[in-house]
Amino acid sequence: MRILVTGGAGFIGSHTADRLVSLGHEVTVLDALTAPVHRGRKPNYLTPGAELYVGDVRNRDLLANLLRRTDAVYHFAAYQDYLTDFSTFTDVNITSTALVYETIVAERLEMMRVVVASSQAALGEGLYRCPGHGEQTPDMRPEAQLARSEWDIRCRVCGGPLEMLPTPERIHNPQNAYGMSKYGEELVAVNLGRRYGIPTTALRYSIVQGPRQSVYNAYSGACRIFNLHYLLGGAPTLYEDGEAVRDYVNIHDVVDANVLVLTDDRADGQVFNVGGGTPYTTREFAEVVRHQYGSDKPGVVSGEYRFGDTRHILSDIDAIKQLGWTPRRTPADSVAEYAAWLSGMDGLDEILAAADAKMRALGVVRKAGA
Ligand SMILES: NC(=O)c1ccc[n+]([C@@H]2O[C@H](COP(=O)([O-])OP(=O)(O)OC[C@H]3O[C@@H](n4cnc5c(N)ncnc54)[C@H](O)[C@@H]3O)[C@@H](O)[C@H]2O)c1
Repeated sequence: MRILVTGGAGFIGSHTADRLVSLGHEVTVLDALTAPVHRGRKPNYLTPGAELYVGDVRNRDLLANLLRRTDAVYHFAAYQDYLTDFSTFTDVNITSTALVYETIVAERLEMMRVVVASSQAALGEGLYRCPGHGEQTPDMRPEAQLARSEWDIRCRVCGGPLEMLPTPERIHNPQNAYGMSKYGEELVAVNLGRRYGIPTTALRYSIVQGPRQSVYNAYSGACRIFNLHYLLGGAPTLYEDGEAVRDYVNIHDVVDANVLVLTDDRADGQVFNVGGGTPYTTREFAEVVRHQYGSDKPGVVSGEYRFGDTRHILSDIDAIKQLGWTPRRTPADSVAEYAAWLSGMDGLDEILAAADAKMRALGVVRKAGA
């Protein structure tokens, strides 16, 4: 197939493009090489054999030109950050998706599949259960609660403890501008796909880990930060009490899922969670990274928390397992590969300091009781 990969110079896009080329597809990448992910030049890992167009996915003429000679699209280009320019999230992530469909419909293009990258952020706090009051999908925890170091979410009826459940696709409860834009992207893609007969799949990735994840983007998360701390001889901060739960999925497993839904008719019109399937507390994940570096310094609970973080989230991956996909790599595999990738890089101490300063300047990192 002739396949267009938007955001194909990024982390997930470039690994996907590599696999597509190795499978014999003709791959075109459309990527604006945006900061802070990129530093104004092509990354050296760019897929050999893929043709790169440097440009914005919202450039109507460029997009139309590329779609005219395309059989399938992976739409990965996205804006991801903690900043408060809410309209940029909707503009880059939702408008670009609408433009893909608008062009396909206007030009009557025959598209075999459009795959859009959604996110676990569309699930928000996810699904919980109270033994007495049943299922609940809580909202963001109030600031006053976090300031008292009360981390767990409680039943909205009786105030008792809640059990966290794996969150299936039927739940969508995004709490931040990024999550809302990803849910919007999903709605646009799946609904317009159904309405106009354009085979479409949306994949809600959990936290994806592996090499090429930008070290410059504050959004890149725990894998980057924890690796940098241990590589530089320190130990990471564990926000809250270190017991928040997440699931982590390896980049090669994500690429397996991406390739699977390209041709599987059962994926048409569907949204799938693509996650690691196994819950890890932040503390447990920090231990995975600590072992990688042979450090004797565990992560440190400092009484700090991040504004807007979900307490727990674990994606239910049963639906995509029905298609034959399952995560085959562990977070330890991802960390080992990421550490090997970092080992050749200069200036990592400055990156770590800058990331920390940025999060503090944005007021994202806060201290309980302050
Ligand atoms: N990495 C994760 O953990 C994760 C989790 C859930 C969802 N996702 C989604 O997966 C997709 C890929 O994420 P990633 O981690 O590879 O991110 P990334 O930042 O590494 O890659 C995104 C790429 O898109 C490009 N881009 C950004 N804005 C653009 C625009 N307007 N026009 C053209 N190109 C543009 C960037 O230059 C970058 O190369 C995104 O849609 C993201 O929302 C990622």
